[in-house]
Amino acid sequence: SSTSMLVFIWDCIMEDLERDLLTFEGFYFHRKACDTGVLENLDDFELRDDDVFVVTYPKSGTIWCRQILSLIYFEEHRKRTENVETNLRVPFLEYSKHIDFGKRPSPRLFVTHLPYNLVPRGLKNKKAKIIYVYRNPKDVMCSYFHFLNTYSTFKAEDTMEAFMKQFLEGKVVGSLWFDHIRGWYEHRNDFNIQFMMYEEMKKDLRSSVLKLCKFLGEDLNEESVDAVVRQATFENMKDDPLANFENILKTNVGLKREGHFLRKGTIGDWKNHMTVEQNEKFDKSFQKQMKDFPLQFIGM
Ligand code: A3P
Repeated sequence: SSTSMLVFIWDCIMEDLERDLLTFEGFYFHRKACDTGVLENLDDFELRDDDVFVVTYPKSGTIWCRQILSLIYFEEHRKRTENVETNLRVPFLEYSKHIDFGKRPSPRLFVTHLPYNLVPRGLKNKKAKIIYVYRNPKDVMCSYFHFLNTYSTFKAEDTMEAFMKQFLEGKVVGSLWFDHIRGWYEHRNDFNIQFMMYEEMKKDLRSSVLKLCKFLGEDLNEESVDAVVRQATFENMKDDPLANFENILKTNVGLKREGHFLRKGTIGDWKNHMTVEQNEKFDKSFQKQMKDFPLQFIGM
């Protein structure tokens, strides 16, 4: 029948997409950037008390939080006396096989998209700090859709309709958004963790920076806080070659079409990209997946 033909075509497309993904313990990673050996050893990763981890589901404000963290910890960054990319100041735990983390001076800053059950075991002993940044999932989906369709290295559905299916099935790096946030939320008491909501950061960046300083025990003076806030706004980051990711993506990844990693940086852009029907479909899936979850936590 035509339905089974469609299912067959769909399965072929998914198979092709999945060739881009690496599965480890049921979780999806970037195949090209990943190394199973690294993943297998993560459990035993040796932590230091003053390590800090930014944890996110992709497209939730990762680069933003990395920038803020780097600005809080590095005076040279705040004063712009050093030319180091944010990407290197706060490297990816699972995508940096070329970096010897053991040799890095403290405090070490890391970023990861890992789910709660795959992070280094020591984090459960509250040995280091975690900042979990999350964002409205519809905005995450739209941001993801544009991101994958901007850079040539990624295979992705090029219509929102098809991408939404992919996203709601969790067939993307980071797997299923619902599982990611639920896992981290439900196990929050196992970790030394501070949750940060993208929308709150956007509405009041200064308060968010102060909240982070307090959690990290970093006592910055007024002028330094000003410098962090100034250099972490969307506009300034977008123009800052050390913060905007353009160099790395353009040289290593290549553009499929014109676009920027710091694309829009707004709240509610999904309304410009989803139809009424798509929104209803998304809501239905959301309600099913997130029942028993405190919705006020996600600001909904
Ligand atoms: P949009 O695609 O909606 O613009 P990640 O770093 O997790 O991949 O997230 C990228 C998203 O965060 C992009 O969203 C990007 O524009 C947004 N972003 C990055 N820096 C930001 C900032 N300073 N303020 C607001 N949004 C920011």
